[in-house]
Amino acid sequence: MARTILVTGGAGFIGSNFVLRRIAAGDRVVNLDKLTYAGNLGNLASVKHNPAHIFVQGGIEDAELVRSLFQLHHPDAVVNFAAESHVDRSIASPEEFIFTNVVGTFRLLHESLDYYRALPAELQARFRFLHVSTDEVYGSLSKTGPAFVESKAYEPNSPYSASKASSDHLVRAYQHTYGLPVLTTNCSNNYGPYQFPEKLIPLVILNALNGKPLPIYGDGLNVRDWLYVGDHCEAIALVLEKGIPGETYNVGGDSEKANIDVVTTICSIMDEVHPQGAPHNRLITFVKDRPGHDRRYAVDASKLKRELGWLQQETFTTGIRRTVEWYLANSSWIQEVTSGDYRKWIAANYEARGAK
Ligand code: NAD
Ligand code: DAU
Repeated sequence: MARTILVTGGAGFIGSNFVLRRIAAGDRVVNLDKLTYAGNLGNLASVKHNPAHIFVQGGIEDAELVRSLFQLHHPDAVVNFAAESHVDRSIASPEEFIFTNVVGTFRLLHESLDYYRALPAELQARFRFLHVSTDEVYGSLSKTGPAFVESKAYEPNSPYSASKASSDHLVRAYQHTYGLPVLTTNCSNNYGPYQFPEKLIPLVILNALNGKPLPIYGDGLNVRDWLYVGDHCEAIALVLEKGIPGETYNVGGDSEKANIDVVTTICSIMDEVHPQGAPHNRLITFVKDRPGHDRRYAVDASKLKRELGWLQQETFTTGIRRTVEWYLANSSWIQEVTSGDYRKWIAANYEARGAK
């Protein structure tokens, strides 16, 4: 059944992919996004004139604005993507992470509860608050430790993951104490179209394209589990539809890779599709490590598969090729996002690291 969904952070990387998919599926989306450096209406250009997409610029911490959106649009669900999301920025300036990820989520939850309590019983039965979280809340794994399961204790290590862990706990408390029907998803590293090029994969694609160094933190052997963004979006849609309120669901790609292997894979694809710069792996540069850098993440998504029937469509091999091709085909999007502020961040983050 078509729903009205209040999506927060729907102009960011994962949020915009989710919005485009839900509108294509027939839902109506009220998209509340503050348009920080990471938010980009260019991601949503294809739905700019679509009446099923209502965009509102503002913060999730603005309780009055959130209340007015509930009163005006009567959403059936809230999906909370809005966050500060980049670990390196959380190390450089943590405060904004606490403000949006913790205080913002708290205010959004509280307004959602007030709205939920006033709904008639049949609409209460439909209402869901889905919080989009991360595998980073579980901490770092040893080389052979078992993948994260939903019952794993939280051990966040960066200001980013600590702020997400705090927000997860608040979400849980709103269900346990007040009965708000919440769902939480904890997903591994996403990649795909519209990812802001401060994150490893798009940064490496762009730098390779421009003949710039490909910076690898530390020894390049930190491991992440990679999932194509479209598969994450479908997992969220499935949890929203079939998940049991109060439950949490891990989402992962079953695709653990050391950073150096991710970068050399991108270099090989670039050698084929952009042979002018080949071999691109000559650009690989080892730089000073991220402080407190988590060594390994791995996600066990068997609960989501077993209980809700989720299946990923892309493997890393197919997804990374699609992603490289997308960035090469979207030079005007890249130009738009790599203007002023982006260049300042890249200078600040990488000049301090130097080459090793
Ligand atoms: P992103 O940084 O690309 O986008 C974040 C969006 O939130 C931006 O559009 C930004 O303008 C908006 N925003 C920031 N502060 C806001 C505020 N106070 N109010 C309203 N909007 C605000 O992030 P992303 O990579 O798309 O991640 C989305 C969510 O998914 C985050 O909650 C993140 O923790 C989670 N997540 C991300 C990944 C990943 O690999 N990128 C993996 C797992 C979970
Ligand atoms: O695990 C899910 C998380 O994945 C999300 O919650 C975060 O929002 C998202 O940013 C991502 O966090 P990471 O820190 O893992 O992603 P990032 O792309 O920043 O880095 C991936 C790995 O690559 C990590 O081990 C650090 C390393 N890295 C990163 C950059 C930007 C480099 O070696 N060089 C770089 O220049």
